[in-house]
Amino acid sequence: MKYFKIILLFITLQLTAQQGGMWIPSLLEGMNETEMHNLGSNLSAKDIYDVNNSSLKDAIIHFNGGCTGEIISNQGLILTNHHCGYGAIQSHSSVEHDYLKDGFWAMKETEELSNPGMFVTFINRIDDVTNTVLNGVTSALSEKEKQSKIDQNIAQIKKNVKKEDWQGVIIKPMYKGNQYLLYVTETFNDIRLVGAPPSSIGKFGSDTDNWMWPRHTGDFSLFRIYADKNNKPATYNKDNVPYQPKHFLPVSLDGVSENDFTLVFGFPGRTNEYLPAVAIDQIVHKENPAKIEVRDEALKIVDKYMRADEKIKIQYASKYARIANYWKKWIGENQGIEKSNAIANKEKLEKSFQEKIKNNKQYNRLLSDFDKLYKEIDSATLARAYWSEVVYRNIELLNATVKLYQFENKIIKDPSSFEKERTKLLKKSASFYKNYNATVDQDVFEKLMSLYKDKMPTAYLSNTVKTANIGELTKEVYHNSRLVNYTSFQDLMSGSQEEVIKKINADKGYVLGKELSNDYFKKINPKFNEINIQIQAVQKTYMKALIETFPDERFFPDANSTLRVTYGKVNGYAPKDAVYYKPVSYLNGVMEKYKPGDYEFDVPQKLIDLYQNKDFGDYGENGKMPVNFIGTNHTTGGNSGSPVIDAHGNLIGLNFDRVWEGTMSDYNYDPAICRNIMVDARYILFIIDKYAGAERIINEMKLVHPKKK
Ligand code: ARG
Ligand code: GLU
Repeated sequence: MKYFKIILLFITLQLTAQQGGMWIPSLLEGMNETEMHNLGSNLSAKDIYDVNNSSLKDAIIHFNGGCTGEIISNQGLILTNHHCGYGAIQSHSSVEHDYLKDGFWAMKETEELSNPGMFVTFINRIDDVTNTVLNGVTSALSEKEKQSKIDQNIAQIKKNVKKEDWQGVIIKPMYKGNQYLLYVTETFNDIRLVGAPPSSIGKFGSDTDNWMWPRHTGDFSLFRIYADKNNKPATYNKDNVPYQPKHFLPVSLDGVSENDFTLVFGFPGRTNEYLPAVAIDQIVHKENPAKIEVRDEALKIVDKYMRADEKIKIQYASKYARIANYWKKWIGENQGIEKSNAIANKEKLEKSFQEKIKNNKQYNRLLSDFDKLYKEIDSATLARAYWSEVVYRNIELLNATVKLYQFENKIIKDPSSFEKERTKLLKKSASFYKNYNATVDQDVFEKLMSLYKDKMPTAYLSNTVKTANIGELTKEVYHNSRLVNYTSFQDLMSGSQEEVIKKINADKGYVLGKELSNDYFKKINPKFNEINIQIQAVQKTYMKALIETFPDERFFPDANSTLRVTYGKVNGYAPKDAVYYKPVSYLNGVMEKYKPGDYEFDVPQKLIDLYQNKDFGDYGENGKMPVNFIGTNHTTGGNSGSPVIDAHGNLIGLNFDRVWEGTMSDYNYDPAICRNIMVDARYILFIIDKYAGAERIINEMKLVHPKKK
């Protein structure tokens, strides 16, 4: 018995060790397939990706460039997150029908709403083109020459690739440029809104609950792909018809239990798992604290105004959420890295690496090169963080000057583009000023500019700011600049080309903004790039060296917005001593958090009624309604809207977030505390069916009972 327990422990450890990683769908045969089977999957590599037959990958889309979505009916029905459809839902909303507040459900096909500019992309095929891309890239070339040779090769491959004319092609580096993959893509542009719950369900808990467990959010929305009569991509046309997919995901009614296998399929944006310890140290101790500090100040000011003024609250809600999202993530990331000793662990790995390769001339200076280069880039990195957070992201007037700076440079380079560029800028600015309040921004300016003056590395600090009294500078800019509202901005932009150039260069706001832009584009960024290109070259060799030196380790290529598979299991976790989090949350928890009238925790009356009557239809479980669950899947930004798939290929959930203690997984995935957060598919069905009464949407899905078979 004791012996058996030891074996069991050993197996458990093995299984734990096997999690994490974002794998390339066309390369799952072998190790990944075995790992998935060990976790309880019945899927073969070919069920997931197959070039000749339809497979799971044919149901997965890159949603509007940033998120993931999946097809869940033979009529091209798309499921993605509420926060991914947010912009589209907002664009159809007005005071008379506020779909963000009340939700939206198309009760027949003709009520589905088109979204100009929206697009979704399927991956048709993945090919390895490493040899062709790296052809002629020799060590005799400089890093710049290597890159231009690579760019030439890529252009050539794109020209010759075998594909249909409605298909596109993308080539992306993997393993820091040690491998190149080609993706043949199919992009659809007629995407219509089908359904969305009210924000009190789709965004329940808002910023307070963001990145947190336990969670109770119905973060989903529904769209549909329309195609031409031949089922091919087409721009919007009222005669277009619902797209018939090569594959769609059946939806499971059987739910999840702890330790069930889960597979998440989607387009993770960016991770950096193979950085040296010095790089992580720089992120955690320099970059993140700088960015967090700036956002701390900006958020405090905006929050104060939003609480006091209803109009400002509406104008700034979405901007506030965006700023708060990564602010909170970085705080969690830093705590996780400290707590898991990530830096010390990397150093340990580096020590054993150095020991193993000490006689290898090609590799034995990599780590000291990293040390030297990260020291060199330190102040440009910090300057970049302050510039982008202060000038570019958080002081809105200065952000407007950066746009104007780019406009001026464009028309100096190509004077004939003046009218076109002016029209473009005016159009963009109209929507910018709709949500702009100069009083809020002026306060933000004064606070952040003082911080900038104190903290910016002096080599990169503009003269004006260095010598200014910030209080006076603030008044001077906000009392005189014509960038403070749309009417005066239009005025500034009126007249001939010479007049516009003359006027903008006399504007107090633009004069300051231009100086700050010059600091960035002429000093900070060139310096950063000059060193960074060397760091990337070392990183490429280091990646190769790691793979060769530790042949028994698993290495996956960092996320780069390409299609990936990650897998794990439904699993709770212990965030700190004496605390254990269970893996599933229920509607009871929504009611525990309910605060009538609160902008984050209000609950719609209809949902309260369904809860009180236990009217859960086929979707509840033992008299309770499951809402969210967590698992060990390794995900990141971009995985929002990714399907969670069971051992048989059915949809069991929808990915939308990670737990706070685990946001460090972008640098250091730790299966002990890194968890992704998903909406239970049954909660989605319950909201569509019982809450919204949109039966026609349920009817087009294929609901299955894989566990009861
Ligand atoms: N943290 C999730 C993801 O990056 C959800 C973000 C949207 N929700 C919010 N409350 N801001 O990005
Ligand atoms: N909410 C994130 C997104 O928008 C996914 C959460 C994460 O970063 O893991 O993609």
